[in-house]
Amino acid sequence: MIYLDNAATTKPCRAAIDAMCSAAEEFGNPSSLHGMGLRAEKLITAARDTLAKMLGGDRKNIYFTSGGTEANNLAVFGTAHRLAKQGRRVITSEIEHPSVIEAVHRLGEEGFDTVFADVDGNGRVDTEKLAASLTPDTIFVSVMHTNNETGVVQPIEEIAAAVHEKCPKAIFHTDCVQSFGKMPVNINRLGADMLTISAHKIHGFKGCGALYMKNPRITPVLYGGEQQSEIRPGTENVGGILAFAAAAAECGCDTEEFRRKRGLMKRRLSERLDFIRFNGSDEHNSGSVLNVSFLGIKAEILLHAIERHGIYVSTGSACSSHKPQPSHVLTAMGLDGAAVGGAVRISFAASTTDEEIIFAAEKIADEAETIKRYM
Ligand SMILES: Cc1ncc(COP(=O)(O)O)c(C=O)c1O
Repeated sequence: MIYLDNAATTKPCRAAIDAMCSAAEEFGNPSSLHGMGLRAEKLITAARDTLAKMLGGDRKNIYFTSGGTEANNLAVFGTAHRLAKQGRRVITSEIEHPSVIEAVHRLGEEGFDTVFADVDGNGRVDTEKLAASLTPDTIFVSVMHTNNETGVVQPIEEIAAAVHEKCPKAIFHTDCVQSFGKMPVNINRLGADMLTISAHKIHGFKGCGALYMKNPRITPVLYGGEQQSEIRPGTENVGGILAFAAAAAECGCDTEEFRRKRGLMKRRLSERLDFIRFNGSDEHNSGSVLNVSFLGIKAEILLHAIERHGIYVSTGSACSSHKPQPSHVLTAMGLDGAAVGGAVRISFAASTTDEEIIFAAEKIADEAETIKRYM
């Protein structure tokens, strides 16, 4: 098997599996007052430390959630509802993950004034245009760090600076689900007030993520428990959290190596095929994702053809694959129907080898040529 769908999810690493198994042995509830509970709580505190250090922050500011989706929802709703008396404008971008876009749409239905900043043909948010939409009424801005469909890294530092300069009371959130563990993510260097991370994208388990908040001032989304200062109540997913920290500690964040692998795949495909186009900026790319359109081919047909060789990729993002819709990200970048319909996402892990890339590129090119002949 050659697994090249790491933006959808990753294989749990040995350290994560061991951590999960240790939590099954040490199974106390971290809220219990007896020794078993205290031991579980101590383990969670150590996990917080590991993650907070990687983010350049403080362990008390980490709020564990059921994943990136919940953390994004908590950031959007929690902040907007808390700051609603201060202003009504909420700004995000057109290329966010649905867990931000749809939450912001919902705020629109509640009467908030919502703005969706557009992107250029390279898939980057234009800071100047976004800055022009910052009004004194703006309370929340959310722009993702790395896009999940293209790997394009957004100008977060610039956007954060513009938000803080023009709207000092507004909160700036960035979804780092696709960047954390693949490139350095430091809350202070990014200039963000909040950021989202998720375990299963970095070789941890599904169902565990976190919202880091520099200054946790939000209205909770869930009620009914004293855990995590009542900001995110509910018994903690101890195994998932320990595995998250164990997996994070193993991430090399070697962006150059990711970029080299992406470049190798790109070269191999372009040497063989003249009916492809690559989508999204090369210069501003995490290197973990290569988005390529096979013009005149339906991406899904190609995906299934290469699956016969044990090669796994995806069309667009995994979350939307069960209700096929044209990619909102590629559409926002101005791609035409043929380029959007033929787009395949190839995403790498630190463990992906050159041999795997070379073999996969050859099979993808073979199958694409065959399909093209019959179209
Ligand atoms: C950029 C981005 N944000 C958020 C999420 C949601 O994370 P989770 O699957 O942990 O809910 C994903 C998952 O695909 C993602 O790629």
